[in-house]
Parts: sequence; structure tokens; C-alpha cells
Amino acid sequence: MFERILIASGPTLEAIDPVRFLSNRSSGLTGFHLAGVARERGLGPITFVTGPTAFRPQGVELVPVESAQEMGAAMRARFAEAAVTIMAAAVSDYRSLKYYPEKLKKSGERIVLELVKNPDILLDLGRRKGPGQLLVGFAAETEDIFANAQRKLEAKRLDLLVLNEVTADNPAFGDVENQVYLVRPDGVRRLERMGKAGVAAAVWDEIASLAGRSG
Ligand code: C5P
Repeated sequence: MFERILIASGPTLEAIDPVRFLSNRSSGLTGFHLAGVARERGLGPITFVTGPTAFRPQGVELVPVESAQEMGAAMRARFAEAAVTIMAAAVSDYRSLKYYPEKLKKSGERIVLELVKNPDILLDLGRRKGPGQLLVGFAAETEDIFANAQRKLEAKRLDLLVLNEVTADNPAFGDVENQVYLVRPDGVRRLERMGKAGVAAAVWDEIASLAGRSG
């Protein structure tokens, strides 16, 4: 059905020195299920760009990466070929300004680590998006969730945004279930709290409806 599907999944890992890094609690489970559902439904060949996680789907072209910069390069190199691209990765917003080639020594009671912003991969892909390409992003918000989601949808030129409202009852990260909203330029749909495989199935239903509409 789709010429190629490109999925980014998992956390990114930003090295500080040979033994330390910055990262986040993304398990990679949602991306894993997005690939699984696409494969079960025979939606097309899948390229799976993933940060370090235990979840490795079968039957995909697997592209393991570590840092946001590596993930960005891997996504950009493959984006033009992809009819559907899903950025389900939890990209680290910042990395250490410096990589310390020797293990940092224990020193004073306080030390300062300077961080620098990582490039926004999804924003970059949105700028490169051509006609007939569908681009899907994720967002985790805690306040003004719908206004923020609409802003992101427009700024990043997305066709669909999977919105997580992050609360104590719905941590989204590291949980096996999730409650999300599917945000499109023309409206918002609330899904019940369900397993991440169910969320992945609903996301693909939505993508199929978008693809049907555009051509
Ligand atoms: O702006 P925010 O970080 O909330 O957007 C989340 C979406 O953007 C996710 O789809 C994530 O994969 C993507 N993202 C990205 N590059 C970044 C940060 C987030 O592609 N540096």
C-alpha cells in the first residue's frame, strides 16, 4: 500500500564521556508496535531507525543509532523515499556541549555541565515534505495541551499528531498503556486508555484514512 514506511523509535542517548550519557525513559514500545501493526497489515516495507532500546521489531530494515544527531542524519537520508514517516522517538532536547574523551574525574561538591540544544528532526522533515508524503509526530504535554498540539502541527507541517497528556495517572513514558488524542488539522479524536498495540492500530487506521483522502 505504501512504497516505504519510515519510523523513528526509542530514546536518544547523548554521550558525555566514555561511560556517561543523558537520555530519557522512552521504552520504544510504541514504535515497536507501530512497526508490528504495519507489518501485520502488509502496509509496505519498513525502515526502523531506533535509539538504544530492547524492542527490536522483526521484518524491518533496522537502523540502530545513538544520538539525536545520528538519528537526524539517518532520517534525513531516508525521508525522500518514504510515503509515511512517523517520528515516535523521544529525542533528547539537549546534549552536552562538550564530549569529554577521558572519563570525568570526581571533583568538587558541585560541577556544571553545559548543554546545547539538539536539532528538531521533525521540524526539519516537515520543511522537506513533498506532495503525497504523510508525516506523523508525537507530543507529550502537561498544560494547554490542545493549543500546543495545534501549534506544533502547523509549525512542523504534520498530517497527524499523537498527543499524550502526561499526568500522574497517564505517565505515557515507560508505561504499557496510554491514553492519547489524535490531532489532525481538521479536528481532534480522543482514544480510550489502552495498550500501546491498540494505540498503534488506531494510529494506522487514522493514517489510512488520511492516505485515502489525499489520493
Ligand atoms: O516539540 P516536541 O519535542 O514536543 O515534539 C515532539 C515530536 O518531535 C516527536 O514526534 C519527536 O519525535 C520529535 N522531535 C524531534 N527532534 C527533536 C525533538 C522532538 O524530531 N529534537
